[in-house]
Amino acid sequence: MNTQPNVFTDVFSEAKLGPVTLRNRIIKAATFEASTPNALVTQDLINYHRLPAAGGVGMTTVAYCAVAPGGRTDGWQIWMRPEAVPGLTKLTETIHAEGAAISAQIGHAGPVANSRTNKAPALAPVRFFNPLSMRFAKKATIDDIRDVTEAHANAARLAIDSGFDAVEVHLGHNYLASSFLSPLINRRTDEFGGSLENRAKVARGVVRAVRDAVDKHGDRKIAVIAKLNMSDGVRGGIPIDESLQTAKWLEEDGGLDAIELTAGSSLVNPMYLFRGGAPVKEFAANFKPPISWGIRMSGNKFFREYPYHEAYLMRDAEKFRAELTMPIILLGGITNRETMDRAMAAGFEFVAMGRALLAEPDLLNRIQAEESKGSVKSLCTHCNMCMPTIYSHTHCVVTGAPDTLVK
Ligand SMILES: Cc1cc2nc3c(=O)[nH]c(=O)nc-3n(C[C@H](O)[C@H](O)[C@H](O)COP(=O)(O)O)c2cc1C
Repeated sequence: MNTQPNVFTDVFSEAKLGPVTLRNRIIKAATFEASTPNALVTQDLINYHRLPAAGGVGMTTVAYCAVAPGGRTDGWQIWMRPEAVPGLTKLTETIHAEGAAISAQIGHAGPVANSRTNKAPALAPVRFFNPLSMRFAKKATIDDIRDVTEAHANAARLAIDSGFDAVEVHLGHNYLASSFLSPLINRRTDEFGGSLENRAKVARGVVRAVRDAVDKHGDRKIAVIAKLNMSDGVRGGIPIDESLQTAKWLEEDGGLDAIELTAGSSLVNPMYLFRGGAPVKEFAANFKPPISWGIRMSGNKFFREYPYHEAYLMRDAEKFRAELTMPIILLGGITNRETMDRAMAAGFEFVAMGRALLAEPDLLNRIQAEESKGSVKSLCTHCNMCMPTIYSHTHCVVTGAPDTLVK
C-alpha cells in the first residue's frame, strides 16, 4: 500500500512569476471596475484593488486598460496614455504597500468595443455589427493592425512607468486578437485570415511586441501574461485543439511568463465564461430601447445558461497542462481551499479568482487562517448579478462589497 502523503505545492507559498516574486499563488482576476468615469484612476478604483490586496491576494489585476481609445468596451474605461500615469502610479503604490503585486490587463476590445461611447471606430477582422452599441466595427486594415500592435507595446511601457509588476495581454472573449483567432468571425482572405497560422498572427504579434517593449524599457523588469480562450463555446468559433496549437506557438515564441486560460465570447456566448445564473432582465435594464427590448427578446438565446460547478474550466485546462511547460493560471469557479489544492495537485502554478473575491475581498486571509481546512466557504452564489453592475459601479449584489467595506 502506498503510504506516501500526497505532497503538492502550497497555494499560499511564494512563487516566481517571470522576474517577479508573488507572496502566494493566488491572483485576483480582472473584473471591470466601472470606477473610472473620466478614463482616469479614481480613489474608488484604488479602494477596489486595495481591498483584495489587504485581503491576501498575491496579485490583483486592473481591468481593463485599453491600448487605444477605440479599444474600450465603453468610453469611460481607462486607455493607456501619459495622462493616466500619475493616477496609475498612486494605485500601484497603494497595492504594494499592502504587500501585493499588481497587473494591468491590456488589450483592444475589437468587435466588442463600443464605438458609440468611445467616439472612435471599433475594429474587427471583417466589418461586424455590434448589437450593444448598434454600430458596425470597421474591417481592420494592415496599418490598423500595425498601429494596434504598437499600441500594446506602448501600453506595456506605460505600465512599467506606472509601477505595475505585470501586464496581462487580453487574447480572449472575442476581443480583437481573439476575434482574429475565431474562424466564425475572421472571414478575411489576406495573410491574417484562413489558416490558423494566419489567424494567430495578431495574437502572436502583440505578445511579441509587448515582450520586446518590456525587455528594452528601463531597468525594472515585469512579467508578461496572456489571457487566452481555450474555446469560445460557439459552433464555428475557436475550438480547443486550435487554441492549444496557438498556446504552443505562444510558448515557442518565448514572450510569456504564464498563460491564463479562459473561455466564452462577450459577443455571442458570454455565460460560457461564467456559468451559473443569467441575469437577462438586470442586464437589459442598463440599456435604452430598442437595445433593451432586443436583449429581453433574445436574452435567453444570447445569455444561454450553463450549470456552474467548482473549477469548471479545469478539465479543458488540464489538456493544456499536459502539453505546455510554461506556468498556467487556472481560472473559473475557484472559491475555496479544496479547489485551490486540487489545482495545485494537477500541476497548475497559479489560480485566479474573480467573483469570489469581488464578493469577499478578505476571503483569502480567512482561508489562510482557517483552523480546519475547508471550513471557510465563499458567499458567492454565482448568480452573476455582479455582471450588469459593470454599467454603473461593479459590486456583488449579495454582500454589497466592495462598497460596504470601503472607508
Ligand atoms: C463583473 C465582472 C467583470 C469582468 N470583467 C472582466 C474584464 O474586464 N476582463 C476580463 O478578461 N474578464 C473579466 N471578467 C471575467 C473574470 O476575469 C473571470 O474570467 C470570470 O469571472 C470567471 O472567474 P470566476 O469564476 O473566478 O469569477 C469579469 C467578470 C465579472 C464577474
